[in-house]
Amino acid sequence: MQTATGISYAKIILIGEHAVVYGQPAIALPVPSVRLVATLAPAASGQMIESSFYHGALAAVTPAFAGIAKLIKALLAHFDASAAPFTLTIASMLPAERGMGSSAACSVAIIRAFYGAFAAPLTQTTLLNWASLSEKAIHGNPSGLDAATVSADRPQWFVRGEQLQPIAFPSRGVLVIADTGVKGQTGQAVAAVATLLKQNPAQYGPLIEQIGAATRLAATALGEDDLLALGQQMTVAQQALAQLGVSSSQLNQLIEIANAHGALGAKLTGSGQGGCMIALAANPAAAATIAAALTEAGATATWQYDFAQKENPA
Ligand code: MEV
Repeated sequence: MQTATGISYAKIILIGEHAVVYGQPAIALPVPSVRLVATLAPAASGQMIESSFYHGALAAVTPAFAGIAKLIKALLAHFDASAAPFTLTIASMLPAERGMGSSAACSVAIIRAFYGAFAAPLTQTTLLNWASLSEKAIHGNPSGLDAATVSADRPQWFVRGEQLQPIAFPSRGVLVIADTGVKGQTGQAVAAVATLLKQNPAQYGPLIEQIGAATRLAATALGEDDLLALGQQMTVAQQALAQLGVSSSQLNQLIEIANAHGALGAKLTGSGQGGCMIALAANPAAAATIAAALTEAGATATWQYDFAQKENPA
């Protein structure tokens, strides 16, 4: 083992969450300015993890970190190093359980650090296979969208089980991302939607189709630089997500505030029931107005993703 680092990014789902679990498309983007870095280093003794998620020995992890611990143990076994002493340090700018993909980002950065530490080549397919090990342990039935996006370097069109496809984004417009400060559990939200679909497929099934249709129209709007149409489809998706029970009073409030301050559309992002929302602004000045209003209304943090700056570097 040699010292190595792995990097991953926060992810924002522009549109398509939840429906993507049932085979509909989703559009998501990595946010390179909000990143997670995992550093794996050989140590004299012990197998230690140092992070804001968990701090202590691998053998004694808390239940919340068990999925990541399962991944680490499997990687150690894969590299024939189950007893090797190490320190794994995880430095994250992502808030946990807020729909920004923190668990997937943690998994992806750790896998990259392990492959670097053992000087092994890593394909995207192998990376995503490893990530699904921990994502399934943490979230139950993940689509794979989170891991695919946090490991990508540009916006993606994603359909479960298919190859990712980079998707063109408009030449203008800004997404404002705001955190409600309330935790949301992806596994619970996905399970709640599954229960509704099982109990009443005639009522809830069409909402999944509606989100899929809105996602396809959003892709057309992106290609045509049509921010108004994109904003409209975000609003359509939000209405369907609310009917699926994954919005919340805090999310609804921030969405209303954004719309009242000039957003072209706004919705929750990620699994919902807490977490973050996004609002589409026509330009940076409009984004600043919306961000200020969201902060005033109680958002605990805001970020911006400017479509004109393709890389949105740190
Ligand atoms: C969570 O970020 C996105 C969901 O669609 C779940 C998934 O795709 O696995 C809610």
